[in-house]
Amino acid sequence: MRPLRIDILTTFPEMFGPDAGCAMNFSIPARARKAGIVEWQATNIRDYAGNKHDKTDDRPFGGGPGMVMSCQPIFDAVTAVEAADPRHATRILLTPQGKPLTQQMVQSFAHHPRLLLIAGHYEGIDERVIEELAPVEVSIGDFVLSGGELAAMILMDAVIRLLPGALGDEASACIESFAPVGPQCVRLLDHPHYTRPREWRGRAVPEVLLGGHHADVEKWRYEQRLARTKARRPDLLGPGTEQS
Ligand code: ADE
Repeated sequence: MRPLRIDILTTFPEMFGPDAGCAMNFSIPARARKAGIVEWQATNIRDYAGNKHDKTDDRPFGGGPGMVMSCQPIFDAVTAVEAADPRHATRILLTPQGKPLTQQMVQSFAHHPRLLLIAGHYEGIDERVIEELAPVEVSIGDFVLSGGELAAMILMDAVIRLLPGALGDEASACIESFAPVGPQCVRLLDHPHYTRPREWRGRAVPEVLLGGHHADVEKWRYEQRLARTKARRPDLLGPGTEQS
């Protein structure tokens, strides 16, 4: 299978590597990249500015603070990057105005052959280029970051770990918090985890985990997940949520 291709359009391409210290060069994304499961490259929108000062933004019509990213550099960057590979690219704009990112959306993105992430900056992007490109607009939460780059990395991380072979144990993607609703995947928060020592600062590991009875452990874990979900995120148990 061909690796998932992810392109990121940004005015800060260095944030995505290849320097060793870059956040994307660690853990599962880095391993998946080395294993040929995913490939990504960041393109500098500034390279498509088309003016001698490499200017990608301008003052807002109607006044107000900040700058607005101009249509043409973003459009030209998208056109050029898309032309580099015949596979259809799903365009995703990271913006606080977008649809809140969910595990279901992440799962769907993991099935696409190619993602093109557009990271906005400044006060926003000229609305006309958003209309023209018609990207999926995605927000990672109800707070405002200084740019879409970190949001793009979060989306990438969540998608990459779902790609076949990215995790050592295929099952572990399924049982974690916010796992998709599926035959063995219920939409519950995760249960607590413990490792050695058996006692730490007077806190003992729950007895049931030490007994070696698999069915008891599974029952306890399921109960813990249900209790946690009820206490912390009752909204997840609302109408329409499948339980098994
Ligand atoms: N850019 C700035 N804030 C953002 C957010 N919350 N989600 C996605 N992109 C963003």
